[in-house]
Amino acid sequence: MNAEEILNQIAAEVAVCTRCPLHKSRKKAVPGEGPANSEIMFIGEGPGFHENEQGRPFVGAAGQFLDQLLARAGLKRSEVWIGNVVKCRPPDNRDPFPEELATCDDYLERQIAAINPKIIVTLGRFSMAKFLPGAKISAVHGQMRRVGDRFVIAMFHPAAALHNLNLRPLILADFAKLPQLLEQARRELDRSTPAPQAPKQEPKQLSLF
Ligand code: URA
Repeated sequence: MNAEEILNQIAAEVAVCTRCPLHKSRKKAVPGEGPANSEIMFIGEGPGFHENEQGRPFVGAAGQFLDQLLARAGLKRSEVWIGNVVKCRPPDNRDPFPEELATCDDYLERQIAAINPKIIVTLGRFSMAKFLPGAKISAVHGQMRRVGDRFVIAMFHPAAALHNLNLRPLILADFAKLPQLLEQARRELDRSTPAPQAPKQEPKQLSLF
């Protein structure tokens, strides 16, 4: 299966998932969306009211702000992958429970493996904690860290910046740095990827005739 087929397969599983109690109160699961060859994945927390209605990530007020932030980074929504650490809405938008995060993690891990992005941008503390355990958002926001074969940038959650106006200039400035960070990630990953080996040449037979 190619990456797109794997993502479709995961989305089909998520749509009918009953692995944790969140499925009981959901209307639509939200697997995430975007091109299978995205260089950047944006990973939020979990669906809210509008996402639960539509089955699509970041389509409410936080999503509209995310669109503005993407524009600030010169990115279109259609060229990045956007999803969440939990695929079903926690009732009343409460924080996801550790068991829910752990159960849903398999889907996200498979999505990351299929897409193999250069950069993962975490939106919010649950997503940040998955990749940068113990990090404090006030200390690390907007900075790029290498995590295994890729880079992780923790950003404030767009909803937090909608509610706390002091965070707005910070998140705008962090997103404005994304093009330059993406260039840096491309360069560093190119450098650390071993060049393809030239096929072994058989020693030439010397002909005397
Ligand atoms: N907030 C999130 O973390 N994810 C969404 O999809 C919507 C709002």
